[in-house]
Amino acid sequence: MKATILAAALAFASLTTAATPAQWRSRSIYQVLTDRFARTDGSTTARCNTGDALYCGGTYQGLIKKLDYIQNMGFTAIWISPITFNLEERTAYGQAYHSYWQQNLYALNEHFGNANDLKALADALHRRGMYLMVDVVVNHMGWPGSFSSVDYSKFNPFNQQRYFHPYCTPDYNNQSSVEGCWLGDNNVQLVDLKTEDPTVANMLNAWIRQLVSNYTIDGLRIDTAKHVSKSFFPAFNAAAGIFITGEVFDGNPAYTCDYQNYMDSVLNFPIYFPLTRAFSSPTGSISELVNMVNQLKNGACKDTSLLGTFSENHDITRFAAITSDMSQARNVLAFTILADGVPIVYQGQEQHFSGARDPLNREAVWLSGYNTNAELYKLTAALNQIRNLAVFRDAGYVTYKNWVIYSDANTIAMRKGFDGGQIVTVLSNKGTAGNTYTLQLGNHGFANGAQVVDVLACRTVTVANGNIPVLMERGLPRAFYLRSGLLGSGICGL
Ligand SMILES: *[C@@H]1O[C@H](CO)[C@@H](O)[C@H](O)[C@H]1NC(C)=O
Ligand SMILES: *[C@@H]1O[C@H](CO)[C@@H](O)[C@H](O)[C@H]1NC(C)=O
Repeated sequence: MKATILAAALAFASLTTAATPAQWRSRSIYQVLTDRFARTDGSTTARCNTGDALYCGGTYQGLIKKLDYIQNMGFTAIWISPITFNLEERTAYGQAYHSYWQQNLYALNEHFGNANDLKALADALHRRGMYLMVDVVVNHMGWPGSFSSVDYSKFNPFNQQRYFHPYCTPDYNNQSSVEGCWLGDNNVQLVDLKTEDPTVANMLNAWIRQLVSNYTIDGLRIDTAKHVSKSFFPAFNAAAGIFITGEVFDGNPAYTCDYQNYMDSVLNFPIYFPLTRAFSSPTGSISELVNMVNQLKNGACKDTSLLGTFSENHDITRFAAITSDMSQARNVLAFTILADGVPIVYQGQEQHFSGARDPLNREAVWLSGYNTNAELYKLTAALNQIRNLAVFRDAGYVTYKNWVIYSDANTIAMRKGFDGGQIVTVLSNKGTAGNTYTLQLGNHGFANGAQVVDVLACRTVTVANGNIPVLMERGLPRAFYLRSGLLGSGICGL
């Protein structure tokens, strides 16, 4: 696969020091839930009943052996589960297989492997020119029981009650309460750290500096960021010295984008909601999606090119649980990878997994047999490859703000990139039953007479009368790139 080699070359080109936001812009991230991706024994049959919410056996060594599966999809980074030591008890919500219930920041969750295994993973990624993003929890420590039963001496280094907020339950209409109260319940309490306290903040900053250095981490994803004091983040981001993106689980751009004034990036929840609504049926609102694209790029967010763009993750309903239509799944994936921001694809999306809510959306990837012939696996590879190529040919691609050049009730067409280096993406929500017609598309920036290739169908067309004649059929997505720019890339055999 020539295009894969190109992606690797691109990755090596920017591999120098601890990764900056500018370096992350050009990356594409595969989200790994460590317990559910690959086992050391390489099993593709080991049972994993998501409903049980127990450890299923995924490890760093298993992941190392399956990096080809990820890299051959064109990904240039992975995000893994939190790595710190978690509560060991089996609770009413199962075990801490997701690793969000930490108790000791200076020890590892050894269900995934030891320090040498984690370092070996970082090395294996870096040898491939890929980045390692680690999920970190600064909001809380996990306790398997009621708020009144917390034994603070079990936590490290926050081994006294004075490091935590007093118990209260959040009032979601009150931001101080969202930041200062506890998540969880009496099955598992998420004991809330006083991150606005300078002592606590300094301890977390010292910890993250070591963690990043010990495991040569390139980026961080901050769990439950909206429950942490905003003022905590600038110094934490600086102490980490690498790119961080925060989970601010809220679709309101005014609310969520504000966090980008305190940290490099946030996950793009504002686009997530209209995105999945738009493509989940032929009556989904395209105009709502168009409005959000424009709102975000026209100033709602400080820098849309740094947002983490996703359509699935381990906390939300998988797209295939909303619609089983493969054509609609293709469109939502194409938007995720070709719109503004750093694309993030959650493991299993490429296998069209259909788990609904947590914990059912945490299926073991090994049960797919790592099928590299799966339709969405191949599509993900094609989408990442054209994006990697566009970035390689023109560094300005990633900062060019996605321009919606056409839309109607069922279609959105977007241009990203400067003249000659742009990708023109045409998406539809009509689904597999969609009719066949030709859309005459202008505003694409290609010269009249230019030959452009829809790299998702490997079909060449010529721009005529200022338009790309876009063959729309079965609601399939299209992505056009200048044919001459593809020569030597291996894409579509060119
Ligand atoms: C908001 O929450 C804070 C912290 O829990 C509390 O002190 C304050 O009284 C609340 N404000 C309102 C208006 O409820
Ligand atoms: C980093 O490594 C040093 C040396 O082994 C160790 O003392 C320290 O606890 C480690 N810190 C973290 C956060 O892992």
